[in-house]
Amino acid sequence: MGGDNLEEYYRARAAEYEQIYYRDDPACQAELSREAKKLTRLVEGKKVLELACGSGYWTRIMSRTAASILASDIAPEMLAEAKKKAFGCEVSLFKADMFDHSFGDRCFDIVALGFWFSHQPRQAYDQLFDLLVRPLKKNGLIWMIDNNPPAEWPLKTSCKIDSHGNNYKERTLSNGETYVVLKNYFDLLELKAIFSSRFDIQSLRHHTYYWSTVLMQKGGRP
Ligand SMILES: C[S@@+](CC[C@H](N)C(=O)[O-])C[C@H]1O[C@@H](n2cnc3c(N)ncnc32)[C@H](O)[C@@H]1O
Repeated sequence: MGGDNLEEYYRARAAEYEQIYYRDDPACQAELSREAKKLTRLVEGKKVLELACGSGYWTRIMSRTAASILASDIAPEMLAEAKKKAFGCEVSLFKADMFDHSFGDRCFDIVALGFWFSHQPRQAYDQLFDLLVRPLKKNGLIWMIDNNPPAEWPLKTSCKIDSHGNNYKERTLSNGETYVVLKNYFDLLELKAIFSSRFDIQSLRHHTYYWSTVLMQKGGRP
C-alpha cells in the first residue's frame, strides 16, 4: 500500500527525477556525499536487495563495494533510467511492486530503501516493516534514507493532511502536470519512536536536508 497515485507520478517524473541529487547547494551535496561514504562501507561485500530503486542513484553508489544487488521498482521508466548506468558489481534490475512480490526469505544481508519512507502511509508502517524484514538473513540490516523539507523546492510542504495525519504535497513536473502526493516529514524523536517499536536502531542521523538510518530486527532472527 503506497500513496494514492505515486506510481503514475514517478513514471511521469522518471526522466527528470535525478535532478534532486544535483542541486547547486554545497551543504546539501556534502550531506549526500557523507551518506554515500557510509553506505559504501555498510554494503561492502554484502548481498543487497534494493526496493523502489528508481533511477539507480543509490544502486550505483552501493555497487562500488557490494557483492551483488537485486534492485527493483514498479516504474519501467525509472528502470530504463537505471539501466543507462554503469555499475561496479553484479546488478539485476527488474520491475516489481514491492507490496505484491516475494523477494525470497532470508537471502539478503541488506535491504535498501531510498526516499520511500516519506511516501508510506502512517497507518501502514507495519506492512512495510514486514516486507523489509522477510528477505533478510539473521542479523541482516535495513538502510533507509529520506529527505527533510529543505531538500525540496518549492518549500511549501502541505496542501492537506488526512485523518491518519498523512501530509500531502502538490508537485509540478517540467511539462506543467501537477500531482498531489503523500509526503510525510519527521523530526529525530518521531523517527526514533517509529523505528524503535520494531527495530534495534544501529544508527539514526537527522541532518538539515536528509535523514538516514540503519536498523536491525529486535533481537535478530532465530
Ligand atoms: C522517491 S523515488 C525513490 C527512488 C530511489 N530509491 C532513490 O532513492 O533515488 C520512489 C520510487 O518508488 C517507486 N515506487 C512507487 N510505488 C512502488 C511500489 N509499489 N513498489 C516498488 N516501487 C514503487 C517509484 O517508481 C519511484 O522510483
